[in-house]
Amino acid sequence: MLLEARNITKYYDSILACHEICLSLGEGQVFGLLGPNGAGKSTLVKIMLGLVHPSSGEAVIKGRPVSEVKNRKNIGYLPELFRLYGWLTAYEWLRFNARVYDIPANQERQAIERTLELVGLKGREKEKVEGYSKGMQQRLALGAALIHRPVLVFLDEPTSALDPVGRIEVRDIISQLKAEGTSVFLNSHLLSEVEMTCSHLGFIRKGKMVASGKIEDFMQESHEIQIEAEGVPAELLQRWEKQGRLLQRNGSNFNLLIDHRQEIPEIIDELKGCKTRVYRVDTVKGGLEQVFLDLMK
Ligand SMILES: Nc1ncnc2c1ncn2[C@@H]1O[C@H](COP(=O)(O)OP(=O)(O)O)[C@@H](O)[C@H]1O
Ligand SMILES: [Mg+2]
Repeated sequence: MLLEARNITKYYDSILACHEICLSLGEGQVFGLLGPNGAGKSTLVKIMLGLVHPSSGEAVIKGRPVSEVKNRKNIGYLPELFRLYGWLTAYEWLRFNARVYDIPANQERQAIERTLELVGLKGREKEKVEGYSKGMQQRLALGAALIHRPVLVFLDEPTSALDPVGRIEVRDIISQLKAEGTSVFLNSHLLSEVEMTCSHLGFIRKGKMVASGKIEDFMQESHEIQIEAEGVPAELLQRWEKQGRLLQRNGSNFNLLIDHRQEIPEIIDELKGCKTRVYRVDTVKGGLEQVFLDLMK
């Protein structure tokens, strides 16, 4: 395992921020931690980074405790509330971070160029950061967290403050990290973002991990399909209606209610049997939203 949280509990005086949290993350996985504000997401990340001491339990990266400073070279971190020095250019900011991470002088330039490319700021690196848009600042901060090519990067609400375009840009960078095999730990309260990028999910509520696992396990089984077909006989339509199966009809598009997946091939066979021309069959996907609301109740 790349990352493990072993029974982590954290009190800030009498406030219980994390309660007996366990999780593990393998190489190349993208873990999304979902939960409302104040649930304990940022605290958990800071503990796994070795920035906050847990009251009990421990965080382990590559089998070694995060309290070992050497171990932290493997990880990158984009804080929820980051600050950049506005008087520096993006190039200077990345160079500063390259030196913090001890990147050898002869590899510095290459590391900076590669990072500018990754976060889409190539050509803008000589401008001062104070003139950057919010989205560009967020991407630069993300770049700084990646300059040393960590095996694991923690991103704490990386898109919360961005407009839709900025969100898509950051999401694309996360997808690229995933494709390169970098593991990502993502804190978010945005379901759609997590749905599109993560391989694994955890749901945290009032400091407790209420559920975790592969994303497929949380996607609800669909109970609705859409069929595009021509020449559906009137008798079949009437039968669907009588059964309460026909939810909607729009020209040659039919939305049907099903109880089980097995009914899909049965319906297709039936259509073929009466020589209907079928162009398309889709399942109408169930989202994470209901799962989230159920778990947070
Ligand atoms: N440094 C701190 N001192 C005292 N309480 C804190 C501190 N940081 C967080 N908390 C409290 O711990 C709980 C979890 O906060 P946090 O980890 O920031 O949650 P999230 O990131 O999910 O919004 C909240 O009740 C918050 O007020
Ligand atoms: Mg937070």
